[in-house]
Amino acid sequence: MKKLSVNLDHIATLREARKENFPDPVQAAILCEIGGADGITVHLRQDRRHIKERDLELLRKVIKTELNLEMAPTEEMLNIALNYKPDWVTLVPESPEEVTTQGGLDLLKTYSIVKEIVNKLREAEIKVSIFIEPDKEQIEKAKELNASAIEINTDLYTKDIKNREKYLKEIEEASKFASSLSLSVHAGHGLNYHNIIPLLKIKEIEEFAIGFSIIARAVYVGLKEAVYEMKRLIIEGEK
Ligand code: PXP
Repeated sequence: MKKLSVNLDHIATLREARKENFPDPVQAAILCEIGGADGITVHLRQDRRHIKERDLELLRKVIKTELNLEMAPTEEMLNIALNYKPDWVTLVPESPEEVTTQGGLDLLKTYSIVKEIVNKLREAEIKVSIFIEPDKEQIEKAKELNASAIEINTDLYTKDIKNREKYLKEIEEASKFASSLSLSVHAGHGLNYHNIIPLLKIKEIEEFAIGFSIIARAVYVGLKEAVYEMKRLIIEGEK
């Protein structure tokens, strides 16, 4: 059954808008789990603009599902991951000005640093996913680097509506190719309650990482319900 990992960065974004101690991503994580989430994702950014180490520390202790730490491939982040031992690390590119992650990690350009980081994480028995574009060469590099999974960037598929069929096909082909190399396949970025539907037919996709649309919907219907609705779509769409 396909899994849903809920990204809680925007709970922390709201907290930081007022520099308060609420809403708390740790409380939110519990509601997500009650709503049916299979995992919790947080992106600890180098500028700590939303998620803080305190969140990571408490989430590690509190959640009952899998914790996925999104992070840039840097020494600082590696040490944090080794300290808190999330179940998964997802390596993402990061630049200070971006509002959200822009594009997948280019493994041709970052090969040596990513190699060192993946090796150390795998030695510590942390599973590693790498956020990449649906591109054969990138997938081959992820395999060569001994990643456990790739997360396919669905951003263009979600944004460029005119070319949606083309991007859907690319994601499907990339999923099949990665799976043929024994890489687990995750997908995420920009997914919502509508555009996820066609992706549910791609049997190789094992997990979706979704944040913004669920947190936005939670404003109207509550977090537990928003997660439950997404999880129900995933279950129904897979049938
Ligand atoms: N996957 C990755 C690698 C991301 O960087 C993000 C955004 O933090 C997501 C998934 C979730 O994207 P969204 O918030 O658009 O659902």
